[in-house]
Amino acid sequence: MMHRQLPKRRRPGRPGAAATGAGALSEGWSRRAPADEGGRHRREHHSLGGVRGGPEVRTLRRDTWWRTPAATVVFLTVIVVYATWAVFQNAYYYVGAASHRDLISPLFSPCITASCVPGARGGFFLTWWRISPGILALIVPGAFRVTCYYYRKAYYRGFWQSPPACGVADGHPRYTGETRFPLVLQNLHRYFFVLALIFNVILTIDAVMAFRLPGEGGFGISVGTLVLVVNAAFLWLYSGSCHACRHLCGGNLDRFSEHPVRHRLWKAASVLNARHMQIAWASLAIVAFADLYVRLVASGVFSDPKII
Ligand code: FES
Repeated sequence: MMHRQLPKRRRPGRPGAAATGAGALSEGWSRRAPADEGGRHRREHHSLGGVRGGPEVRTLRRDTWWRTPAATVVFLTVIVVYATWAVFQNAYYYVGAASHRDLISPLFSPCITASCVPGARGGFFLTWWRISPGILALIVPGAFRVTCYYYRKAYYRGFWQSPPACGVADGHPRYTGETRFPLVLQNLHRYFFVLALIFNVILTIDAVMAFRLPGEGGFGISVGTLVLVVNAAFLWLYSGSCHACRHLCGGNLDRFSEHPVRHRLWKAASVLNARHMQIAWASLAIVAFADLYVRLVASGVFSDPKII
């Protein structure tokens, strides 16, 4: 892609001055107006003066462009505040099969510390970790979401106003992109993608375990079972629609014809990738809902309705 280099300094334009080359861009620009009744042409002058070459006004848009960044701020704030509260509450994240069935909140799985409630913990656990196990369980999935290409766009626009929307002036006078610390760490996304696949497997096992029913038969389906199944399914959809996944499937190839399997995978990943934004929001909402559901059942607010 070619980028046109704009001069850094702008000087006030002179009305009527002819515009030529880069100098014209630095002062503004002029153009030949339509001929008047006498067949004469005159020059119209337009000044560029806003942030980084934009107009002096913040935006010329008249639509409700601010709704998307505002909704992003509200939704992400609610999710972050809720998840922080849930993790530090450090209780009601597991319903054991002895009394009901295995339901564990996705915010606490895998539960790998000695402080996990009995039954929630796997074979491997850390004895020296004293605070909420949810903090450990959220490091990789949290980093995967924070570095996600789509979420980056959403929170750069919503929280940092950088820029808030297309055709709206950036909230910052300078732009350094993601070339410096700490934003350069966003490039780790592809590695978090791989690590997050491990978590997808674990949460899928959690969903399978939620079919286990104590007593006769040992198998059953409840609303909680379905909640964990839907949660696991959306986590796979989220990973499958990831840009890093699409690149892993079809990137670095000169000819798809020589790699038919990767071509098919790339086409499937491309279909999901086109809906990555929608899947990202849905999956995030379902994770929060699954935690809330397990929390309400575990705290006795209601019992998990049995379907089969
Ligand atoms: Fe969003 Fe990878 S780009 S998860």
